[in-house]
Amino acid sequence: MPNSIGILTAGGDSPGLNAAIRALGKTAISKYDMRVTGFRQGFRGLMQNRTVDLHAGALSGILTMGGTILGTSRDKPHKMPVGDKVLDMTDAMLDTYQQHHLDVLVCLGGGGTMSNAWRLAKKGMNIITLPKTIDNDVYGTDVTFGFDTALSIATEAIDRLHSTAHSHHRIIIVEVMGHNTGWLALGSGLAGGADVILIPEVPYDIDIVADSILRRSQGGKHFSIIALSEGAFSADLGKQIRQLKDGIKGEEDKSGRKRLKRKLRKLLARQANITHELTRQLEDRTRLEARVTTLGHVQRGGAPTAADRLLATRLGTACAEAIQEGVSNVMIAARNGDTEAVPLQDVVGKRKTVPQDHIWIETARALEICLGDQ
Ligand code: F6P
Repeated sequence: MPNSIGILTAGGDSPGLNAAIRALGKTAISKYDMRVTGFRQGFRGLMQNRTVDLHAGALSGILTMGGTILGTSRDKPHKMPVGDKVLDMTDAMLDTYQQHHLDVLVCLGGGGTMSNAWRLAKKGMNIITLPKTIDNDVYGTDVTFGFDTALSIATEAIDRLHSTAHSHHRIIIVEVMGHNTGWLALGSGLAGGADVILIPEVPYDIDIVADSILRRSQGGKHFSIIALSEGAFSADLGKQIRQLKDGIKGEEDKSGRKRLKRKLRKLLARQANITHELTRQLEDRTRLEARVTTLGHVQRGGAPTAADRLLATRLGTACAEAIQEGVSNVMIAARNGDTEAVPLQDVVGKRKTVPQDHIWIETARALEICLGDQ
């Protein structure tokens, strides 16, 4: 029978992490009499054997807290900055795992954490993961915890921006997180009544965006709200990036490849600055004043919503049950209103993007919200 488990949280923090730690820990301790050890600051704490004893008292009063009581980091087991070097520290992590006689290590994280956890599984550790991220982009689960909270925060921000955009007859561009997927921008844009929603899954044409704003203006609506996903890009930029990537793959000459890589870096830097480029382009084309609001880390802060608490709690308890049943090397996913253990191998290296025929995209099109492509 498993009697010792470890928990770590890795990647960007996300509302609901503490709710998941609490549910997993409480079930493991009270129902199955397991010992629960937390590791600080993600994989770094595992490498350094920096622990927190997660006894019942330590799990009390954390359900509603944002962030993670364990701390987190973006450190990767196989590329760990140590002094002035970057080293593969997976063996040190295996040592810690063995020293604590862990039966299972539970890693709470997003796509990057799934890959890192899989590396540890291949070293011989028994791993279970739980899907958290405000981006909602983890493959194999219907939803991730943290997403609902971020969605509510971004929606409220868009609600609030309406009155000031309206008063000043301005375009307001709200930059929403989401990494390379548009779940957050699309969801909050729809829920907040944005006039334009731009996401990575639907590359935009700047003239189509400007025309839609001008049409609103001519129709007597002298303001527009744009929900812009941080990973969005124009069709033109997307094409150039794709061509360069293909070019790099096909280039055999070393210096030629270096030159193409330099060019690619420039284009990626342009994408990273897309919000400001878009603002300038729209001011030029529409002659309306434009302002940018970057929601940033506010979207990840504070208490989780009830939906995220429920989801994290369900996944946490299901995880304890799976451990008790001897299951490992899986992600406990939310599927069709239930939980399911999905082989970790099937999740790793994939990303859940917004499908072109997703109901939110179809709904936006039915409402004639401009998605920048038609
Ligand atoms: O993955 C979650 C996320 O919040 C993304 O939406 C965003 O791109 C990124 O993390 C920000 O990372 P950091 O907190 O390291 O700045």
